[in-house]
Amino acid sequence: MRSKSTRKIEIQENKKMTNQKPPEIWRSTINKETIKKFWETFNFEKMIDGQAPKPIREFLDGEIKFITKHIKFNSSVLEIGCGFGRLLETLSKKSNKLVGIDFSKRMIGLAKQNLADVQNVSVHLMEADELTFEDESFDYVVCLNATLGSMINIELDVLKEMKRVCKKGGEIIIIVFSENAKNAQIENYKRIGLTDIKDDGKAVHTAEGHYIRRFTKKEVGSLFNEANLKCEIIKGCSINYIAYATKNP
Ligand SMILES: C[S@@+](CC[C@H](N)C(=O)[O-])C[C@H]1O[C@@H](n2cnc3c(N)ncnc32)[C@H](O)[C@@H]1O
Repeated sequence: MRSKSTRKIEIQENKKMTNQKPPEIWRSTINKETIKKFWETFNFEKMIDGQAPKPIREFLDGEIKFITKHIKFNSSVLEIGCGFGRLLETLSKKSNKLVGIDFSKRMIGLAKQNLADVQNVSVHLMEADELTFEDESFDYVVCLNATLGSMINIELDVLKEMKRVCKKGGEIIIIVFSENAKNAQIENYKRIGLTDIKDDGKAVHTAEGHYIRRFTKKEVGSLFNEANLKCEIIKGCSINYIAYATKNP
């Protein structure tokens, strides 16, 4: 039988264990290539279908409404990580030049199919941190659906590229998962069968190579500051932040 003092030590040790954050070792195995592989192979359409948890649906529907309402008529828009063209299709009635880029061949293939009948749209296979557009090409440069959160180690490079290709007086808009998104993310990933879901308190990773981090309001603000952009940050729904900044004329 254990003595009282031994039990006390054990309880203290257990407390320490549960207070410890899970190790972040898994982060060192994630990079742009592992993430690209995920987006090349995974059926993303499933992740955002009608069965997604309520907060995720509110996030997805709300961000499209926000951007559609926010941008001015007949402006040019570049979407970073356009996926299969969910936003571009919706914006086609409002904007006169729509461009999407994505580093996944699968996504670009689907976007081309989905947008085949839309006149003012083009999509390109391109890396978000190495855009091939001229400086000051677009009125709006947007990145939604928590996509920036999958851009491990290149978040600031991407934001700087978004700023470079944005016209003076134009706007940069980014929509990310907030610190409140964890439960909805995990529920959604379980629902679609992603496996070995790990969360270190900041980001989720799965065996299939999916990686998405969450941001606090302060972290989003700091990122924009580092890119020399003064942004407004609002809550679009219970699990996101919408940050937008005008590029100085
Ligand atoms: C969460 S999905 C969002 C798709 C679309 N914006 C939407 O809301 O439906 C993220 C997309 O960003 C793309 N992506 C992720 N990292 C990228 C990078 N570094 N360069 C270009 N595209 C990237 C992925 O291939 C994927 O299609």
